[in-house]
Amino acid sequence: MKFKGYAYIYTIGCQMNTYDSEKFFSILSGLGYEKTDTLDKADVVICNTCSIREKAQEKAFSFLGRIPAIKKEKPNLVTVMAGCVAQQEGKKAFKRSPYLDIVLGTQAFSRLAGHIRAILAGKTQIADTDDATGIYESMPDFDCLDNDKVSRFVTIMQGCDNYCTYCVVPYVRGRERSRTPESIVEEITILADAGLKEVTLLGQNVNSYGQKENICSFPELLAKLSEIPKLERIRFATSHPKDLSDELIYAIRDLDKVCNHLHLPVQSGSDRILKKMNRGYTSKDYLERIEKLKKECPGIGLSSDMIIGFPSETREEFDQTMDLIKAVEFDGIFAFAYSDRPNAPAAKFSDAVDEAEKMARLNELLEFQEKMTEQKNMALVGQCVRVLVEGKSQKKRHSSKASQSNLPQMTGRTESAKIVHFHGEDIHPGDILDIKIEHAYPHSLWGSVQGV
Ligand code: 5AD
Ligand code: SF4
Repeated sequence: MKFKGYAYIYTIGCQMNTYDSEKFFSILSGLGYEKTDTLDKADVVICNTCSIREKAQEKAFSFLGRIPAIKKEKPNLVTVMAGCVAQQEGKKAFKRSPYLDIVLGTQAFSRLAGHIRAILAGKTQIADTDDATGIYESMPDFDCLDNDKVSRFVTIMQGCDNYCTYCVVPYVRGRERSRTPESIVEEITILADAGLKEVTLLGQNVNSYGQKENICSFPELLAKLSEIPKLERIRFATSHPKDLSDELIYAIRDLDKVCNHLHLPVQSGSDRILKKMNRGYTSKDYLERIEKLKKECPGIGLSSDMIIGFPSETREEFDQTMDLIKAVEFDGIFAFAYSDRPNAPAAKFSDAVDEAEKMARLNELLEFQEKMTEQKNMALVGQCVRVLVEGKSQKKRHSSKASQSNLPQMTGRTESAKIVHFHGEDIHPGDILDIKIEHAYPHSLWGSVQGV
């Protein structure tokens, strides 16, 4: 039976959730629902949640706080909490959000349609969160609703076995398991035939892809994906420094389609804190990997995640983090104030860092990095970079330059994911252009088209 109506999905969190939300849309369209961006219009609402930090979790509950008012007007509205908070909270979520109909754990996606049918048939409060360790499969019959996208995320593995002491992922996404290379190649080939030019492969630790199953290594997977004719660019996240092999460095160097960019979260520059985090490397190990990357892949774009104010982090240890950041010269950093997570061992560690001190350290780091990012952007002025066009700029940028031309203002990204704006005529999403960089700004670049 098909339903008539609209589906609204609110996505919080990482790129993996963006990918999962696309799968949810595909399932809901199979049931007959159309996509809407207006919450009040919706007949099904999914809140796809993230539990990595407390802030993200609270965002989910505050969104769900809007539901009772809508449900009053529309009693048949079906409300779903999906993803990591759903997996973590299970039935308890009904206590905080009594108007929820379905709590859908991270391994229960394929049962969503059945649960919606059951709710519409009169069942109440379904929590499906038992098993977070099952075999990961891509959703069957995946049908992209908007097939014209130039760039997409594709999840290649689920879960994590690393148990960093601050992290909730192993508890909400389960044990690490990889999809088969065949299913990944098939999915991306279908997408590339429909116009996809760039894919970002997703996993908590892509460097250990396929190892457990002994199917194929991550560099081998990259080589297979490079063979897909219409695909132009391959990105991936996240890499774990302890598993960054020479083979992967050579794959970045040798495979043309693999972007010259690496997101390699270091988290801290202090060896004592790295040990307490259970990261499995020292700052020296990390810097050695960075040195090799810079040597083998000249001009490589580098980015990292940082946790500031991990329990017992001293001012001196934070300074070591700053020293590491200064030594590497990252293009960009995602820095987070440490927050306790349920089940994560660090929540029980003593000597929590004072919140105000945490924020002061975080701001100091962000201020430094802002300057570094601008400096790195400045270094590109005068250089020619390959840009994948994403479309027209949403807003007019850099108005002094823009006023000099009546041509449309376009936007795209370099291999290291920097945003570039430029004027262009007869240029389409998916085109790859050579662009000469003329101006650098803290968060973007401005250039002129040199050729296709
Ligand atoms: N507190 C703060 N940041 C965290 N991260 C993961 N867990 C926590 C936590 N408990 C950060 C890490 C990770 C990124 C995705 O989120 O830096 O790499
Ligand atoms: Fe969390 Fe560590 Fe696994 Fe990353 S590697 S998902 S930080 S446990």
